[in-house]
Amino acid sequence: MPKDTLSVTDNRTGKTYELPIANGCIRTADLRQIKTGPEDFGLMGYDPAFLNTANCTSRITFIDGDKGILEYRGYPIEQLAEHSTYLEVAYLIMHGELPTKKELDDFTFLVMHHTYVHENIKTFMDGFRYDAHPMSILASTVAALSGFYPDAKHVKDARARRVQMVRMIAKMPTIAAFSYRHSMGLPYVYPNNDLSYVGNFLSMVRNIGEAKYAVNPVLERALDVLFILHADHEQNCSTTATRLVGSSEVDPFSAVAAGIEALYGPLHGGANEAVLRMLREIGHVAKVPQFMKKVKEADGPKLMGFGHRVYKSYDPRAKVIKRMAEQVFEVTGKNPLIDIAVELERIALQDDYFVKRKLYPNVDFYSGLIYEAMGFPVDMFPVLFAIPRTVGWCSQWEEMITDDEQKIARPRQVYLGPKRRDYVAVEKRKPSST
Ligand code: SDX
Repeated sequence: MPKDTLSVTDNRTGKTYELPIANGCIRTADLRQIKTGPEDFGLMGYDPAFLNTANCTSRITFIDGDKGILEYRGYPIEQLAEHSTYLEVAYLIMHGELPTKKELDDFTFLVMHHTYVHENIKTFMDGFRYDAHPMSILASTVAALSGFYPDAKHVKDARARRVQMVRMIAKMPTIAAFSYRHSMGLPYVYPNNDLSYVGNFLSMVRNIGEAKYAVNPVLERALDVLFILHADHEQNCSTTATRLVGSSEVDPFSAVAAGIEALYGPLHGGANEAVLRMLREIGHVAKVPQFMKKVKEADGPKLMGFGHRVYKSYDPRAKVIKRMAEQVFEVTGKNPLIDIAVELERIALQDDYFVKRKLYPNVDFYSGLIYEAMGFPVDMFPVLFAIPRTVGWCSQWEEMITDDEQKIARPRQVYLGPKRRDYVAVEKRKPSST
């Protein structure tokens, strides 16, 4: 019976080592014993951007990138998108099991009764220029919440943790809607807790002086499904940022604010905004071949919304979103840009440049078309990603805080800088070649 070990021989010394294998991994700390002599620090693993490094164990989300599989706590994303709601999925991600009806009713009541923010948040937001990007407002405001809830620093207290997590899930739509209303010069609309989680968000965004905003059920359900699809995605860039910042035991508002800033980047959650700008720039289906030719040139533009670090097949979320677009367009009218998107996909799926690199549509490729058809401005698209991802960031943060193997993150480096040298008086220095 083969042993779960890796035998390595250090050819510099001829010594052989047995490294234990567990869960498909070796512990890179086990490499430190491999030395050329007593002075040697020992081997490290070198893995820029963590392409092949697991920095944690997790029981929340499973992805098989080759098979296009995404599961939250073991439930396939396709089944959750069809049968569940965002708040039910948020409960599942937070607690690990689907809720009973009473558990879901209690959780919904709890979330929908934490939707208000302190009145001073409005004053804080008014400090931004009218054209400030809503992601910068969102990240700053979530970080500011740590100043409003000092008990959030008690990260080892299970009750305090859950209170902050519910606060963030509940208040993210309010802060997002306020940031939109601020940019439009419109008065803030307060939460209406009689509406659903998504209906309340749409009301805070759209309501213009109505006693009760009439939520369109098709759009409400479409956004609810989009929120389900964006709820978590294992160790992506923004979740890793949240975990790393949270590892210093700072409060969860500050850790999640770091996640929002990471998501803001165009290679991550900012991609849905970049896709729409790309489609608008292409402008017509007839211009797609010319654009695709540019993408394949050295230093050419990326095909935004395509490619993924983990999915080397079609992102399962993109399949659901593409199907949903037709339902939304029946209500809003077809977004003409979808013809350009479909043609881009058609060409990419048969072009060797993309096939060889395993580049497929990801979650961001079609989502923006729906958001635009629903009337959201492009710079709100990453905000619509951040709202649902809040439960993922919070749950991954809590998993890290309660993981006995975790401690403050402090990676090593490979130093390639100047060797030790003595200080030189300014009158003796020569201009540097750089
Ligand atoms: C999200 O990690 C997550 O789970 C993220 C996310 C989540 O739910 O949290 O799924 C959400 O962020 C989705 C990704 C959204 N980003 C985009 O759509 C931006 C466009 N995509 C790329 O920037 C890129 O595909 C990444 C960043 C998503 C992944 O890049 P990798 O894994 O670092 O791969 P790479 O950049 O090394 O690319 C490998 C090759 C390169 O070509 P060569 O140097 O080998 O010739 O593929 C090329 C790249 O140039 N390539 C692309 C491309 N993506 C990669 N070429 C054209 N268009 C693209 N979109």
